[in-house]
Amino acid sequence: MTDLATFCAALPKAELHLHIEGSLEPELMVALAKRNKVAIPFATVEDVRAAYRFTDLQSFLDIYYAGAAVLRTAEDFHDLAAAYFDRAAADGVVHAEIFFDPQTHTHRGIPFGLVMEGLTAAIDGARTKHGMSVYLIMSYLRHLSEEDAFATLREAEPWLDRFVGVGLDSSEVGNPPARFARVFAASRERGLRLCCHAGEEGPPAYVWEALDALGVDRIDHGNRALEDPALVARLARDATTLTVCPLSNVALRNVARLEDHPIDRMLGVGLRATIHSDDPAYFGGYIAENYRATAQARGLTRAQLVTLARNSLLGSFLPAPELVRHLAALDAFAA
Ligand code: ADE
Ligand code: ZN
Repeated sequence: MTDLATFCAALPKAELHLHIEGSLEPELMVALAKRNKVAIPFATVEDVRAAYRFTDLQSFLDIYYAGAAVLRTAEDFHDLAAAYFDRAAADGVVHAEIFFDPQTHTHRGIPFGLVMEGLTAAIDGARTKHGMSVYLIMSYLRHLSEEDAFATLREAEPWLDRFVGVGLDSSEVGNPPARFARVFAASRERGLRLCCHAGEEGPPAYVWEALDALGVDRIDHGNRALEDPALVARLARDATTLTVCPLSNVALRNVARLEDHPIDRMLGVGLRATIHSDDPAYFGGYIAENYRATAQARGLTRAQLVTLARNSLLGSFLPAPELVRHLAALDAFAA
C-alpha cells in the first residue's frame, strides 16, 4: 500500500476554497517587494514567517492584507497564480475554483482589469501546462459596505464571462451575510453562482442567513453549523457543500488541535464536507497536506479520503460531462 502522503497527493480532487492572495509565499512576497520597490515591515523571509502567529481571523487578515500590497503589476498576479497552479497540479488537483479579493487591490489604486489580465493569463497557462481547469470566484469583502460591493460588480461587468461566481469573505463576526442580500441577488441575475464564508468564527445564524437571505450554492467553512441540529438537517437534506479547511481552522484557533477536528463528525452526520487549503502560504500546507495531516490526526480511512475527494468534485460548478469524467477517474483511482 502506498504511504499516506503519496496517496493524498495522487487522489484526484477539486480545490474549492483557496484565496489566491493567500498563496503568496514569503519568498515571493520579499522578491516582489524588491521588484516593485514596496516597503514591507520585514527584512527577510524568516522575518515574514516569524510574523505568522495568529490568535484569530482578524489577526491573520491584518497581515494578509498588508502582504498583498507587494502585488502591483499584471505580471505579479500572473506569477502568484502560476506558482499556485504548479503546486496544485503536484497535489492532484484536477480542477480549481479560486477566490480573489478585487477590493483589496482596487482600494489601493490597482485597476480591476490589471488584476484580471494577470490572473486570466495564468489560468490559460494552467490549462495548457497541467490540463487543469480553473474557475474564478470574485469575493466581496464583508467589512466594506454593500454599496462598495455593487461598485465592484459594476467594475467586473466587462470580465463577467471569466467568472463562475461570487463569494463573501473577510471579518465575519459583526458582518452578517444578510447585509449583502441585494448584491448577491444582482450577482445571481448575471448568471453567477454564489458562495459565502459562514460559520468559521460566526454563529450558526450566519449559515442560516447565507442559505435563506443569500440563497448560496456553497458554504465556505461552516464548522459551527454542527452546533445546530436543525441546520445540520437542512444542509444534509439539500446536500450543500461545506468547504472545510482544517489547517486554517487550527492556525486561526477555531479548532484547538488537528486531533480535535470535526471533519469525520461532519461526514458522519451526513454533511457533504470537503477538505481545502484556504490560505496555504500562511497556514502551513496546500491541499494534499491538509488531507494528509487531517487523516493522520483523525485516523481517517482511505475510503473516507476518497469520499472527501468525491465531495469536492460533486460540490464544484463543473458542467455534467466534465464532472462525470472526473468522477470516473476518481473511481478508477480508488479501485
Ligand atoms: N480571506 C482569506 N482567508 C479568509 C478566511 N479564512 N476567512 C475569511 N476571509 C478570508
Ligand atoms: Zn477562506
